Amino acid sequence: MVAEIISGKELAQKLREDMKVEVDRLREAHIVPHLTVVLVGDDPASRSYVRGKEKASRETGISSDVIELPTSTTEEDLLKTIHQLNEDENVHGILVQLPLPDHIREQLVIETISPDKDVDGFHPISIGRMMTGQDTFLPCTPHGIIQMLKSKNISMTGKHAVIIGRSNIVGKPVGQLLLNEHATVTYCHSKTKDLKALTTQADILIAAVGKPNVIKADHIKEGAAVIDVGVNRLENGKLTGDVDFEAVKEKASYITPVPGGVGPMTITMLLKNTIKAAEGLD
Ligand code: GUN
Repeated sequence: MVAEIISGKELAQKLREDMKVEVDRLREAHIVPHLTVVLVGDDPASRSYVRGKEKASRETGISSDVIELPTSTTEEDLLKTIHQLNEDENVHGILVQLPLPDHIREQLVIETISPDKDVDGFHPISIGRMMTGQDTFLPCTPHGIIQMLKSKNISMTGKHAVIIGRSNIVGKPVGQLLLNEHATVTYCHSKTKDLKALTTQADILIAAVGKPNVIKADHIKEGAAVIDVGVNRLENGKLTGDVDFEAVKEKASYITPVPGGVGPMTITMLLKNTIKAAEGLD
């Protein structure tokens, strides 16, 4: 079997066209969706992600600004900034780019963002709402993955979804969303004893390992849908995923590329959440 490629880039473009219409409709009602991104320090990867978020917002008609703070910013000052943004009625979505410098408690920062403006979906209230199936901001990468599967009419009901990775940002929440779609979910991680015994049972395999090309053809069941969340920069500067794309595409039914796969969908779901924030939760 040769896999069909799920292009996140193409799907993202299509969804963003639909979002433009929604933003225009809001603008006519004198609501301009506004996203504020807070960037602390000068990590080059974070800077590049933030630029991508700004560009995508602009192209969709969403207004955005970036508050850049030095690495030396105190936790107290960052929390003060967030409180001000929580109070600012022109700001609909707040995103604090992670990771933060070591002297700042990340969880405290996440919990200081108003759940009404939590476009990352990282606040414990947002996570609790997601777990209990209420209206909320869904975390962007997991939500983007579900949208990619749905775009190809890949049914999740009763399917065995195996996730490699258990981060708060991707692994854990994508498992919850797959469960909400009626999949049977298995989580694998660095302490998992026999990884291949589990991944070879997967109808849907989500690779969120963070190591280049570690998922090989012999990890995959013939005909599986394989979603590669990895963003690994090789020494030659090239981006590559967690999945050995060339080998796995010969065995899978669907596969996502890197770049041009999950990445553009993450930003698109952030835009979706910003529009949702401007409209207000149910
Ligand atoms: N750093 C890496 N991914 C993300 C993300 O989705 N949101 C935020 N805020 N920071 C990140």
